[in-house]
Amino acid sequence: MVNRIKTGIPGMDELIEGGFPESSSILVSGSAGCGKSIFCLEYLYNGAKLYKEPGVYVTLEEHPNNLWWMSQRFKWDLLSLERENLLKVYKFDPTPDSRNEIEFQTKRIVEKAKQFGAKRLVVDSITAFSFWVDDVGRIRYAIYSLIEALRELNCTTLLTVESLPGRNDVSRFGVEEFLTDGIVQLHFRPPHRSIFVRKLRGTRHDARVHPMKIDDNGIEIDSKGEILWEALAD
Ligand SMILES: Nc1ncnc2c1ncn2[C@@H]1O[C@H](COP(=O)(O)OP(=O)(O)O)[C@@H](O)[C@H]1O
Ligand SMILES: [Mg+2]
Repeated sequence: MVNRIKTGIPGMDELIEGGFPESSSILVSGSAGCGKSIFCLEYLYNGAKLYKEPGVYVTLEEHPNNLWWMSQRFKWDLLSLERENLLKVYKFDPTPDSRNEIEFQTKRIVEKAKQFGAKRLVVDSITAFSFWVDDVGRIRYAIYSLIEALRELNCTTLLTVESLPGRNDVSRFGVEEFLTDGIVQLHFRPPHRSIFVRKLRGTRHDARVHPMKIDDNGIEIDSKGEILWEALAD
């Protein structure tokens, strides 16, 4: 039996047989403002707080301050978890020499996860890789190497990707979805938010689109409720 890593996000784990398979890599896809970063931070916060599993958040675009504001609003005490070495946030910036940027950054991610002994990792977002290189083959290989290295570390990883709005658009450069073990799609068709597990290896996951809400308690998924596929934006 595969070990399951609980997200602890209300309504989520019942959609995926109790949690993400240990050591897997999951793509969290959605357009801007869908709740990807909140979902990921909540996954790490719960991991640290409820399950005492060390987590690392690597942000490639957003300023860490945004994460702190977010967590204050949700009353997630990240600071005490940082002090207990259960949570760490890193901001990675592009270096002036961009020739080997993608390989350099992915190697750094693996190093940080290893040093910290992370059981959970977030990379937000891998779309940033395409700012540095536009060779899709190279990006694909770098993501593949990253995922395999993290699997060796038994790290369960969420990779966010910024998609265009619409129900069928998963990724930006059209390769990431084949490399990851799972895909979670977030949608926002104002005023309605929803979540959908498109793929999860080795799991009889729920195949429906579920209503989701974000409020001062974070994310909550209505695992019983259903939104029709047709109701999502094209
Ligand atoms: N306390 C809150 N209550 C309700 N909605 C919120 C709250 N905080 C953030 N949001 C919503 O979440 C959105 C940001 O989510 P975020 O995870 O940063 O999106 P993404 O990473 O997908 O771009 C905001 O645009 C806002 O609509
Ligand atoms: Mg974000």
